[in-house]
Amino acid sequence: EVGASASPEHGLAELHVHIEGTLEPELILELAERNNIDFPHSDLDELRARYEFTELQSFLDLYYANMDVLRTAEDFSDLARAYLARAARAGVTRAEFFFDPQAHVVRGVPLTEVVEGLSDAVAAAHREFGVDAAMIASIVRDHPVPDAHEILGELLRLQAPIIGLGLDSAEVGYPPSLFEDVFARARAEGLRITAHAGEEGPPEYVWQALDLLGAERIDHGIRSLEDPALVARLVDEQIPLTACPLSNVRLRVVDSLAVHPLRRMLDAGLAVCVNSDDPAYFGGYVDDVFAALHDQLGLTVDERNTLARNSIRAAFT
Ligand code: HPA
Ligand code: ZN
Repeated sequence: EVGASASPEHGLAELHVHIEGTLEPELILELAERNNIDFPHSDLDELRARYEFTELQSFLDLYYANMDVLRTAEDFSDLARAYLARAARAGVTRAEFFFDPQAHVVRGVPLTEVVEGLSDAVAAAHREFGVDAAMIASIVRDHPVPDAHEILGELLRLQAPIIGLGLDSAEVGYPPSLFEDVFARARAEGLRITAHAGEEGPPEYVWQALDLLGAERIDHGIRSLEDPALVARLVDEQIPLTACPLSNVRLRVVDSLAVHPLRRMLDAGLAVCVNSDDPAYFGGYVDDVFAALHDQLGLTVDERNTLARNSIRAAFT
C-alpha cells in the first residue's frame, strides 16, 4: 500500500520541517490558556478559517503570529514531542527539524528557553518515539543581517546542540549572498549547511546557496527546473532537494498536486525527497504527503521507495 508508512527495511527521513509549523490549532489554544495570553482568535473554527494562503508571505504572517503562544521551555518541549510522536506514526525514523531562533528572541523569549525545550525533546526522541532526531537552526532572512550574526554567536556560546544552519522565511529580495559571512562562520564551526532556495525565488538563488553559502542540501529548489545548467549541476553532484509538494500547492507555487513536477524531478535523476514543511498549516504530515502523491500523481511503489532512499541518503548523519 503506497499511502501507508515508510518501507520499514529502509526507513524514512524527514529533513524539511519547521517545528513552529507543527504547532496545531488545538495546541495554540492550550498554550494560550496555560500562559494566560489573550489570543485574538480564541475559537478553533475562527482560528482554522485563517488557514487560507495566497503566497508564502500570507502564510508567514499567520505562522509568526501564532507562535506568540510559545513562551517557555515546556512549551517548546511539548511542541517538539507532539511532532516527533506524529512523525513516528508517519513512519519517520530520522527527523532533522528547523527552528527559527530569531522569531522567538525578537518577542522577548530567551534563547535558552527555546534551546532547552527543543533539545529536551530531541534527547528523549529515540527512547520515547523510536525517532532519531536532530535540530537545525534557521536564519530568518528577512531580518537584518547583523541579527543573523548575533544569533549564530549566541547559539555557539550556549553550545546549543544543533547539527546545522539553515535559511528560511520570505525569499524574494533576500538573496543568499547577504549571508555569505554568517554561513562561512557556521561552516568553520563544523555545522552542516542547508538553505531554502528556489521556492518563490529564482534559480540564481540556488546557485548562490551552493556557491556562496556552501549548502549541502537545497530546501524546495523547485524553480531549479527553469535552469537546465543548474539541473545538470544538481544531478551531477547529487545535491539533495527537500521537496514539499503539499506546501507548494497551499502556497500556490504550483497549481495542483496533479501538475507537481516531482515525477519530472525523479526522472531527471535529481536526488529529491519529500517532506511536510509546515504540517499544521499545509494539510498534513509526511504520510499524508505520500498518500496525496499516490492519489493525485499516481506515485508508484518504486517511486515511493526511491524517495525514501533519497531521504535517508540526504540526512546529515
Ligand atoms: N518557506 C520559507 N520559510 C518558511 C517556510 C517556508 O515554507 N516555513 C517556515 N518558514
Ligand atoms: Zn520550509
